[in-house]
Amino acid sequence: MRSRTRRLANFVLAGAKDAGAGVDLIDLADLQIVPCTACESCSLDGTCVFADDFAAAYERILDADGLVLASPVYIDNVSGQMKVFIDRLADAIHYQTLAGKYGCSLATTQVSGGDAVVGYLNHVLNYLGVTAVGGMSVALDSDQEALDRAEPAARDLGRLLVHAIVEQPRYPDQEAEIAENREYFAGIVRENRDWRPDEYERWVREGWIRGE
Ligand SMILES: Cc1cc2nc3c(=O)[nH]c(=O)nc-3n(C[C@H](O)[C@H](O)[C@H](O)COP(=O)(O)O)c2cc1C
Repeated sequence: MRSRTRRLANFVLAGAKDAGAGVDLIDLADLQIVPCTACESCSLDGTCVFADDFAAAYERILDADGLVLASPVYIDNVSGQMKVFIDRLADAIHYQTLAGKYGCSLATTQVSGGDAVVGYLNHVLNYLGVTAVGGMSVALDSDQEALDRAEPAARDLGRLLVHAIVEQPRYPDQEAEIAENREYFAGIVRENRDWRPDEYERWVREGWIRGE
């Protein structure tokens, strides 16, 4: 299917490739992922009760050094597919399994809402413990060339992401936000210590929880 958002994402990935990265595109439109029902089963051992396409996609993300989130604007927000995916990442957020990676966010829209969606997606990256190096949105309106014009900046963003992965720059504002979130999530990790001792130990090793 024709997707402007995928095209924009591919520009960013092409830039990342130029900078030497291997890339892997997960198109949520190809996957069957059902919404979180708040059953809290993942709290027990990190696995979800639903045997759908989420687990394989999550494994691919765990393997990556960088993350590019991209969504069309649907009624001033991310697409339903993206929101379902983000909700299913709740355990990854609580346990900070993707922490330390770098990322960026993209949106395409007909008219408006693009920057807000990029802001939201970068906020989600921070929830995951991922540092956002930037983002961009493209409003297509009736402008057939808007995406073509966005290509150089999108490629630059992909290159910037790879440079960040290599050079590990610090972003103090985001670090503060990530640390504040992590303090909250530490309560969950402590609460679940008895049945997720490995995760608790990992948090102690990371210095996110002071061991007793
Ligand atoms: C369900 C739906 C809701 C949308 N809501 C908005 C909107 O609130 N504002 C807007 O400017 N465009 C909106 N659009 C247009 C899309 O954001 C735009 O066409 C986007 O680039 C589509 O990306 P795609 O080609 O990857 O599917 C909407 C499109 C759909 C299908």
